[in-house]
Amino acid sequence: MNRFRISTPEGTRDLLFSSCRALRQTERAVREALEGCGYSEVITPAVEYFDVFAQANPELDQENMLKIIDRSGRICVARPDNTTPIARIAATRLDDAALPVRLYYSQKVFRSVAGGHGHKGEFLQVGAELIGADGLEADQDILSAAFSALTSTGADNFRIELGHAEIYKALIEELGVDAQTAESIRRLIENKSFAALGDALAPYGERPAAKALGAMPQLFGGMEVLDQVEALTGNVRVLGAVSYLRRLYKALDEAGYGSRIMIDLGLVHEMDYYTGVMFRGYIGGAGAAILSGGRYNALCAKFGKDLPAGGFGIDVESVAESLQGAARPEAATRRGTVRIALTKGRLEKKTLSLLKAAGYDISELEAGSRKLIFALPDAGVEIVLAKAADVITYVEHGVCDMGVVGKDTIMEKGGSFYEMVDLGFGKCRFALATKKGKDVYGGYKTPVIATKYPAVTKAFFNKKNMDVETIKIEGSVELAPLLELADAIVDIVETGTTLKENGLEVIEDVAPISARVIVNLASAKMKKAAIQKVISDLESGLEG
Ligand code: PRP
Repeated sequence: MNRFRISTPEGTRDLLFSSCRALRQTERAVREALEGCGYSEVITPAVEYFDVFAQANPELDQENMLKIIDRSGRICVARPDNTTPIARIAATRLDDAALPVRLYYSQKVFRSVAGGHGHKGEFLQVGAELIGADGLEADQDILSAAFSALTSTGADNFRIELGHAEIYKALIEELGVDAQTAESIRRLIENKSFAALGDALAPYGERPAAKALGAMPQLFGGMEVLDQVEALTGNVRVLGAVSYLRRLYKALDEAGYGSRIMIDLGLVHEMDYYTGVMFRGYIGGAGAAILSGGRYNALCAKFGKDLPAGGFGIDVESVAESLQGAARPEAATRRGTVRIALTKGRLEKKTLSLLKAAGYDISELEAGSRKLIFALPDAGVEIVLAKAADVITYVEHGVCDMGVVGKDTIMEKGGSFYEMVDLGFGKCRFALATKKGKDVYGGYKTPVIATKYPAVTKAFFNKKNMDVETIKIEGSVELAPLLELADAIVDIVETGTTLKENGLEVIEDVAPISARVIVNLASAKMKKAAIQKVISDLESGLEG
């Protein structure tokens, strides 16, 4: 039978019976909570013109939009986001007399996803937008709605973290760097790549803006974070944003939500979109944020009317799944345990020796067995042994809280996680190499590059504005130029022996590699203290 007749597209699935009931129950609770907060429902088309999204939010990746061609040949997309159509409505359909207006929606968003990653291509989002109001009261209104929506689901372990777009924007302006440098700094802050950020900011020495930006990946946790940033900078825009967050916290605390609030000043995603407070919500058992929102005062103007606006969307499917998971008996143990995925082999051995030096009992792992999951006695830590790329998969999905993996795998596979520590061992490098004396760039032929790492290779040559053809090889890549299949290779070089013994030489270094600690986005927040403890235990072994 033709498989397209019996299966659903990548990232989509059928929901039956109890899954439906759980989803609808959560959806209903959130809708009722939003209505109780004075928000009224709107429904927008599932299919809109591509231009709506392309112009409003350039950070929505074109590649990830599900395209449809209409009869006239125009490109339409299955709605990839709910806020943009609401901004279109607000700018084109509402008259000033109606403002401010509280709108909510409960509808699906669609993404075109690559296979094999377990990413959703379709999910139900319920969200709220407050249009035509700005300032503390408006933000408080939106956040109160977010808190009451999550509370209404019955979830008992959720948090909402607050950040502010002005903090990064003001500091990067103070530093005075070009757009490309600013973007690479932003990305390092977003991924919490503390060590790499330090290197990127080193040329700016002791300048206060550099010091404050350098601290941003670690400025998350409780309200003490706000004191820390105040001690680091005198930038009036930053201090203004911090004092705003304090006032917002106070207002929400008075409403009874204080214990659920966290701060993350390293929230620096979609900086062209957010203009003020930004927030994300997490719930135990879901590996990614289940709520995200903030203030986007520039959005409606893109549809012709300058209106302040803010709001949030909740991934109710993930909330419902996590509530179902929380009912299982093992959920309580998972909450109190840090699960670490180690890359089998050399990185595993070195990490275990660091843990052992820090006093963890790893005797079961040392005894040698075919087991794959080990609970370390009295430590609240579980070790999972996996292949490098799978370490990333497990951490990204939140089934492991953190992992130890080589920078080579991170560069090749990518993904959403925090890359928090450079452990400094497992050192080697990516290099471009070829047969001694060969000129790879000579002649008019497109160079053919053999590699186990096509994404790394593509990124390296893209940066050079060079077009190359890559051929994926699974092992002993050095063979490809020797057998004349390729002009050169991009591969890992450690001692250089393999290249030397096969008459090859390095033409250019591509990137240094070492072992990194990666942390799941939600675990970093929900299990901060326990994860920090494991990290400092590992680091203390490195220093010793
Ligand atoms: C890696 C790499 C090189 C070699 C480099 O291969 O792909 O072949 O190590 O090490 P050296 O510079 O110390 O000689 P690996 O041993 O992982 O095997 P593979 O090529 O079969 O994947």
